[in-house]
Amino acid sequence: MKEMAKGMYSILGEGAFEYLAKAQAQERKGEEVLHFEIGQPDFPTPQHIKDSAFESIRNNFTGYVAATGILDLKHAIQDEIEQTRGFRPTEKQVLILPGAKPGIFFTMLGLVNPGDEVIYPDPGFPTYGSVVQYLDAGDVPVQLKEENEFRLNPDDIEERITEKTKLIILNSPQNPTGSVMTKAEIESVAELAEQNNIFILSDEIYSKMLYEASFHSASVRDESKERTIILDGFSKSYAMTGWRLGYVVGPEEVIERMGTLMINALSCTTSFVQKAGITALKGTQEPLKMMMEAFLERRNAIVKGLNSIPNFSCLSPQGAFYTFPNIKKTGMTSREMANHILYNAGVCCLPGSSFGKGGEGYLRFSYATSVDTINQAIKQIKESLQ
Ligand SMILES: Cc1ncc(COP(=O)(O)O)c(C=O)c1O
Repeated sequence: MKEMAKGMYSILGEGAFEYLAKAQAQERKGEEVLHFEIGQPDFPTPQHIKDSAFESIRNNFTGYVAATGILDLKHAIQDEIEQTRGFRPTEKQVLILPGAKPGIFFTMLGLVNPGDEVIYPDPGFPTYGSVVQYLDAGDVPVQLKEENEFRLNPDDIEERITEKTKLIILNSPQNPTGSVMTKAEIESVAELAEQNNIFILSDEIYSKMLYEASFHSASVRDESKERTIILDGFSKSYAMTGWRLGYVVGPEEVIERMGTLMINALSCTTSFVQKAGITALKGTQEPLKMMMEAFLERRNAIVKGLNSIPNFSCLSPQGAFYTFPNIKKTGMTSREMANHILYNAGVCCLPGSSFGKGGEGYLRFSYATSVDTINQAIKQIKESLQ
């Protein structure tokens, strides 16, 4: 066979799907597995959101729609950004996409040339580094340090800025550590980007999933008019991972060109799913509130449980639904420990190293499961390590 395009050899998969497959192989052998690998809420999509999609289908709202998104959902997103980020974007600043992930891919495809450098958090969402490699761009991971509660330190970013830096990726609340950057930290990064004329992709998919901390957006200085692309969506906050609905808010010129990328790749985002998105934003927020109350209880249970395992230590995450315990004192690598736990304790979590080199020595647990399952998993892990 002739060689494929270069990028096809450097684009990477995702640890979550790798470990899900391993867990399923165990289950096929008749083993019971407690699941902590996949980053999706275990709650069903709220009924009123589902009803809204059913109604749209019944009304035959099933054809192609405007490539950049239906106007009513754009208006709902304008309202949402005004309420949560403190400014009202124009319609032309909003692009609706099938999920948040295409927002990462299209933003990077749209802004980064081969050789441009991209600064991103390590450990971090694997898509960032993977797409950097796919685009043959300069890979500049910035280590998140446990001493700084895994918050990205603006000084570490400043040190890595060069003439070639094109894009800084922020993610707060963060996957995989659950860290939340402070207002001052976010503002410092936004200021650095402004001073050095660099784009920011601010992945704010967990913006509604916070415990003690409060949310701050990197759009604070430019209102997404010059350099900041806000990425948000419906997958996590509204338990809609399979629906595929997300959006970006950015400078009009960038959004217009990304819309053209969108036409070529996808034509548009599913019509009736967008209608359900309006209901999600405009309808009751009670299901989200209840989900976050459950996640808080689970967070407390899992942090306590993980800290009770000898040689494990675990910070209390401030957002999202992930914990990132340190296992360095066990003397095992992340992968060795994740495999040990899967095959000897029947608990599936992810090696921290599947989120970048900076994740070595840690594990990631997605606590989208009941407190009983959490307590059972902790018990089984403890037994397997005795
Ligand atoms: C940080 C981060 N960004 C983006 C996404 C992708 O979201 P979506 O499922 O809407 O594409 C995820 C999903 O796990 C995520 O953790």
